[in-house]
Amino acid sequence: MKIAPSILSADFANLKDDILTAQEGGADWIHVDSMDGHFVPNLTFGANVVKAIRPHTSLPIDCHLMVENPENFVEDFAQAGADYISIQYESTAHVNLALQLIKSFDVKAGIVINPSTPVSLLEDVLSMVDMVLVMTVNPGFGGQSFIPETLNKIRKLDQMRTENDYDFLIEVDGGINPETIKECAEAGANVFVAGSYVFNSDDPGERIEALKNAVRD
Ligand code: DX5
Ligand code: ZN
Repeated sequence: MKIAPSILSADFANLKDDILTAQEGGADWIHVDSMDGHFVPNLTFGANVVKAIRPHTSLPIDCHLMVENPENFVEDFAQAGADYISIQYESTAHVNLALQLIKSFDVKAGIVINPSTPVSLLEDVLSMVDMVLVMTVNPGFGGQSFIPETLNKIRKLDQMRTENDYDFLIEVDGGINPETIKECAEAGANVFVAGSYVFNSDDPGERIEALKNAVRD
């Protein structure tokens, strides 16, 4: 299992320190939420922030693009040092092309689905992805409540993975805490993004440990 703290809930004025605190506290990946104010009603940061943090962490940087036409930004994120680039299924008419582009830079490719998007739509891209990210809240903001109906989607995806002998990771993102992480892990998820639960604390390391313990129980 991997814990990927989302810097969306970090202190932007002390981003480097917050990333190092998460790394020393046991984080496995760093999750970067890029939002364009069009695909989602919020605006965050782009590839320049990935470039700025890259020299300060040895952890894989997991970039979640919540932007329209993400194919236009893939090269920038790849060159900035992203290890994973995940695009939203709903954000482009050219999902296959965007995934091929990510892979052409030797970066791991992920596909993301919103809570209302059925997993069956992914049938024809599953063979080419390294990861599927199931949004467990509607994308755009940190601190929202987990949507329990998404658990069934994780189970279905896990079943499709087994039936076809695929080896993609299943990541979940939104409302993850010690209770919801356990349910997602039981449903088949292996990578867990957590923003507010990790960073809205004086001791992010203790929060990361609590997430890991919840899955071990
Ligand atoms: C939401 C983002 C998430 C967000 C999760 O659109 O994709 O990565 O940071 O935040 P929490 O863990 O607070 O729900
Ligand atoms: Zn995210």
